[in-house]
Amino acid sequence: MKLNDTQIKQLDEEGWVFLPDCFSAEEVAVLKSEAEGIYAEDRPEIWRETSGAPRTAFAAHTYNEAFGILGRHPRLIEPLEQVFGEQVYMHQFKINAKASFTGDVWQWHQDYGTWARDDGMPEPRAMNISVFLDEVYPFNGPLMLIPRSHRHGVLDAGHDTSTTSYPLWTLDNEAVTKLVDEGGLIAPTGKPGGVLMFHGNLVHGSAGNITPFPRKIVYLTLNAVSNHIRTPTREEWIAHQDFTPIESCDDDALLRFAKAYQHAAE
Ligand code: SIN
Ligand code: MN
Repeated sequence: MKLNDTQIKQLDEEGWVFLPDCFSAEEVAVLKSEAEGIYAEDRPEIWRETSGAPRTAFAAHTYNEAFGILGRHPRLIEPLEQVFGEQVYMHQFKINAKASFTGDVWQWHQDYGTWARDDGMPEPRAMNISVFLDEVYPFNGPLMLIPRSHRHGVLDAGHDTSTTSYPLWTLDNEAVTKLVDEGGLIAPTGKPGGVLMFHGNLVHGSAGNITPFPRKIVYLTLNAVSNHIRTPTREEWIAHQDFTPIESCDDDALLRFAKAYQHAAE
């Protein structure tokens, strides 16, 4: 799958692009069911909120077959190869839960700020491409983006180790106010199967979820192979050190897996 000229222009100028209906209901259903099984497991890759609810499951593409297929899916890999003009590898893979009633905030931040400071990534030639597993509503903690904020490069940030269970390099309120004055705010919403791509320097965050509706989103962070990280400090399952280029699977691989999965359940 390739992005069209309008989508490329929007990504370049605004820093984000949303592709609704990228995966079918059947394809997403198997991922959602597997994600719930993963959150119920007790393993180090699963990070929990201070309440004990799941926050994020790292590296599921390495230990779960359905997410392994998603991590090689051409609808996600090809647009990134197109944008970077070379093959990509998986820098990070996470399934964020934003659980009903307990899903906690993600403070305002830039992803590349963390990849540069913590992992020694040379340039912002990595990008998040995310797949909605649940419906994302305006009220269940959608991801909020500040359009055009990616044009400012890496902004000053403080290392916040106390607001949530997960340490993050975050921006202060003054910087966020200025960026929102310039670019406004957007929170893409939509059905499971929608895909959101955004630039590594785009400022984003999300509020807590106090609704009964969970908001699971999978994030593949794909990095251009030549831009591999140089000075890792984090666990291998958070910032991968296998820089092997990803070879895409067939476009129908997830659908075939979903059909076999459904058949086995009957
Ligand atoms: C992130 O920025 O890495 C996650 C934000 C979210 O899932 O709301
Ligand atoms: Mn982020």
